[in-house]
Amino acid sequence: MAKKNGNYLSIKESRKIISYNIKQMKYYESLKKKKMDVSEYTSVMNDENNIIEIDNLQTHFFTDSGTVKSVNGVSFNIPKNKIIGVVGESGCGKSVTSLSIMQLVQAPQGQVVGGEIRFNSDYLGYSEDGKKKAYNIAKMPTKEMFNVRGKDITMIFQEPMTSLNPVFTIGYQLDEVMFIHYPEMSKEDVKAHTIEMLNLVGISMPERVYASYPHELSGGMRQRVMIAMALAGDPKLIIADEPTTALDVTIQAQILELLKDIQKKTGCAIMLITHDLGVIAEMADEVVVMYAGKIIEKGTVTEIFKHPKHPYTIGLQKSKPLITSDANEPLYSIPGQVPNPINLPNTCFFKNRCNKCINKCNGNYPSEVKLSNTHYVSCYLYDEKGEADE
Ligand SMILES: Nc1ncnc2c1ncn2[C@@H]1O[C@H](COP(=O)(O)OP(=O)(O)OP(=O)(O)O)[C@@H](O)[C@H]1O
Ligand code: SF4
Ligand SMILES: [Mg+2]
Repeated sequence: MAKKNGNYLSIKESRKIISYNIKQMKYYESLKKKKMDVSEYTSVMNDENNIIEIDNLQTHFFTDSGTVKSVNGVSFNIPKNKIIGVVGESGCGKSVTSLSIMQLVQAPQGQVVGGEIRFNSDYLGYSEDGKKKAYNIAKMPTKEMFNVRGKDITMIFQEPMTSLNPVFTIGYQLDEVMFIHYPEMSKEDVKAHTIEMLNLVGISMPERVYASYPHELSGGMRQRVMIAMALAGDPKLIIADEPTTALDVTIQAQILELLKDIQKKTGCAIMLITHDLGVIAEMADEVVVMYAGKIIEKGTVTEIFKHPKHPYTIGLQKSKPLITSDANEPLYSIPGQVPNPINLPNTCFFKNRCNKCINKCNGNYPSEVKLSNTHYVSCYLYDEKGEADE
């Protein structure tokens, strides 16, 4: 392999990367199995009205080509009883952020290498200075995470067929989950609870679905079953990663309506990941916009949709088809490509695609500017007072 060409690695470079990766992976894997006192993986919440506080999260993949910084210093909060929408182009780190919260990043290559994920748990009480204690999921040993994952925090994936076992009935699989959450329940009570969950997710003939195999159900029904499964342990947070992408438009609307309904009924929080800005506008209370492993803008749904500030957020909205759009006009697309996550520039990651660059943009990565108590943007065009001068 040619060494001089920046796109290729020499054997020496390759070996260096592999030996570095092995060391890193061993180190982070050993931390997960280490016996720890609970104080080593507890922290305190900044605001006890949040269910999750993500603070400077860094999740890397140690690949043979180098370290992929999939999540590169991400910070945002998920308030209780709210729906947070996460948007951004493919590969910007949405799924890896959510998998980090669940401790489900593909290991050993993928590791959370820095930051905190504070989970507001009811089991820990308050610190001496009166702050609500939280589990720091970024440091929590794998064994302890079993008590949180699937119960307090659950996840609904894009393709329900991959999460359901084709050889067992829906009833068997749901009962199994119920037994994990309520081991003291009798078989009859578990079945009754399963039927109740199927009813809650709008399945009209729950007894029949209970006895069915996954392949006998439509995509929409299967996704409802997955939602029932996610609800089994009375979760505080549901992470829905593109939950409707595999469904047709009318069923999509029904599933989203169901999620919104469930959020209102149960009071849980939802982290909704989607490419679809329309879905976010309809569903979310707050929005996080990601680009190349970082958050470039976050705010309430009105701030992001009515007063978007970052050129990328503005571009995303321009590229969305509207009912009023002229069918003969080509749809706007943001020119250029996301930078290579292995070789990220020191400047703003959006610079090579931005049509609003100013002199300052040649400087380091822009820091986050607070535009209101809820609206933040990382762009040199703005300062604390709003629009910045050149
Ligand atoms: N197992 C893995 N090994 C190496 N790199 C990975 C792995 N999983 C994800 N990545 C990288 O991490 C980055 C973020 O990926 P992620 O799946 O979070 O993107 P996403 O925003 O969810 O995209 P999409 O909208 O397509 O689902 C990408 O550059 C991806 O290539
Ligand atoms: S910092 Fe500069 S390059 Fe980056 S998005 Fe803002 S204007 Fe564009
Ligand atoms: Mg994804």
